[in-house]
This record gives sequence, C-alpha cells and structure tokens, in this order.
Amino acid sequence: MRILVTGGAGYVGSHTVKLLSQRGHDVWVFDNLSTGHSTAVPRDRLIVADLCETHRLDQVLIERGIEAIVHFAASASVGESMREPAKYWRNNVVHSFDLLECVRRHHIQRFVFSSSAAIFGAPRDMPITEEFAPQPINPYGQTKLAIERALHDYHTAYGLGYAALRYFNAAGAATDGSLGEDHNPETHLIPLAILTALGKRASLEIYGTDYPTVDGTCIRDYVHVEDLAEAHALVLEQLKPGTALHYNLGTGRGYSVREVIQTVEAVSGKTIHVKEAPRRPGDPPVLIASSEKIRVELGWQPRYPKLHEIVETAWRWHRKKSSGLR
Ligand code: UFG
Repeated sequence: MRILVTGGAGYVGSHTVKLLSQRGHDVWVFDNLSTGHSTAVPRDRLIVADLCETHRLDQVLIERGIEAIVHFAASASVGESMREPAKYWRNNVVHSFDLLECVRRHHIQRFVFSSSAAIFGAPRDMPITEEFAPQPINPYGQTKLAIERALHDYHTAYGLGYAALRYFNAAGAATDGSLGEDHNPETHLIPLAILTALGKRASLEIYGTDYPTVDGTCIRDYVHVEDLAEAHALVLEQLKPGTALHYNLGTGRGYSVREVIQTVEAVSGKTIHVKEAPRRPGDPPVLIASSEKIRVELGWQPRYPKLHEIVETAWRWHRKKSSGLR
C-alpha cells in the first residue's frame, strides 16, 4: 500500500514508519520537524513540510499515488495544552481539517488517526472500553476528540474509511536499539526518570501524592511503542473503505508513578532522587485500557506487556544514545 505518514519523524510515528516499511509498504513521511527528527526516518522518504501547506500535500498525494494516510502530526503534551490551548486547536484541529479536505479532494479511502486516552477524561470505572462516553478534561483531549468527530462526519457523508486508535501511555524504545523517545523539552515520566538515573537531571518531581490511589500517585497504562506500531499496521491492512473503527490500546495493567520510578531504579541499578510536587493541572488520577475489542477483532496483543521490559528497552536506548537522536 502507498501510505503517507504525517508526523512520521516523531516518536510513535517513526516506529510505525519502520514497521510499515518492513512489511513491504511504500511509505512516505510528511513532517515539519518541529518536534520530530530527520534521523529517525529514511532521508529519501522524508518530505519536510507543514500540514498548512496544502499545495504540498496535494502534490505529494498525486505524485506518490497515496492510498492511505496515517495521521500522527500533532502537539501532544497535556500540561502544555492547559497553558497554550490555542496552539492545540490550531495544530491539532485546524491542520487536521486541512488534511481531511485534501483526503476528500483526492478520494483517499483509508485514514488511521493517532487519538488518545485523553478523550476519556477521568472516568471512575476501569478498565476503559470503547463504550465509555468521551469527556476530555484538558485541551489536548478536546482536540483529539474533535478530530474523531470530524472523521465520523466524513465517514457518514463521504464514505471515508477510518480507524481512531486511542493510545494510553506510549513508552519504551525499538528493541533493536535503532529508535527511541526524544522530546525537547522532555515531559514524560519514563524518559525523565531515566535521564535522572543517568545523572543528566538532578531530580525527578512527582506531580501529586494525594490522588485517591494505592500510593497517592497517578496510575497509567504504559504500552510499548512497537506494540502500538504493530496495531497501526494491523488496522491499516484490514481497514476497508467505508468502515469506522475505534480501538483503545493499552496492556490492561496500570502502574503508579512511584512504581514506575522503582522499576527504572531496578533496571538501571541507580537511585533516583525524587521531590514531591503539587498535582499537574489536567492529569486524571487513573487511566487503564481495555483492549479486548482489538484483541477479539484483529488479534492484537501487546508483545511487551510488562513494565520492566518496556523500561529496559528505553534504558538501553537512552544509555546508548545519551546525547539523543539529534
Ligand atoms: N509525572 C510526574 N513527574 C514528571 C512527569 C510525569 O509525576 O516529571 C506523572 C504525571 O503526572 C502522570 C504520569 O507521570 O501522572 C505520566 O505522565 P506523562 O507525562 O509521562 O504522560 P501523561 O499520562 O500525561 O500523557 C500521556 C501521553 C499523552 C496522552 C495522555 C493520556 O503522553 O499524549 O497520556 O492522558 F494524552
């Protein structure tokens, strides 16, 4: 299949590009490199451009005969979205709308969207199935939900085939050591804990120790980035024009912030200096996925469901490339 991957030079995007290419697809990456890394994708497959440059998009879709889109390009930090919602509505919603209009103009029938657990907000019951009503509590989640709704309308009116994949917490690195997580600035728990263990940061802050959880810290469902890539490939290969799919992607097991820190300490053999800090606005206390639906319908199961395995891949990558991908 001839596939255009927006945001393909980013974290989940680059792992997905690698897997799709290995599976024999003709993959092109469209990325403005605002957060992605040119070194994370094959140079001759990278188109450096912004989604708002719709003439470039039109040109690529025609010249490469694109048959499917995998749309990762987005701003993706919950905390930042609370402080700068305008950036999120512009980058995630306005630019996705421009992309959808290109897709419609060129009669592309398959669209896989990088959605998020953030659309669910802070539900009381766990695990979260696809039946739960979306109720985002931060602008990031609002913008991801807005695109899901636009996709649904394009599906109903124009017959677009789409899949919305709601990731829980993407984590880990390529098992062959070739790719990993490299945000600047880094805001995610596992890489920050690893950077602290490596001595690159003095301490790690725990955002909130008074949540109604077993040890007072937030609980998340960490899912290996290669398992997410696998889900994209499976979904894309089975997605038929005119269908609408929604899948939650996680392992079904939650770990608290303190458990994550202990795991990084165990894997690295280092002690991590932590500081207790106030809650981070926009953070739900607990998020755990039910991924039964995609397991039953497509046979997807995480190959790396254990936190220590996920952390080991991240640790290996960070230690090897301690200066990052750049
Ligand atoms: N945390 C800390 N200290 C830190 C960083 C994070 O205590 O320095 C805590 C957070 O408060 C949260 C947990 O660790 O409870 C995980 O935080 P991350 O920033 O690693 O991830 P998030 O859960 O905030 O965000 C992830 C994805 C988002 C997605 C969201 C769903 O990165 O794209 O899950 O809520 F939207």
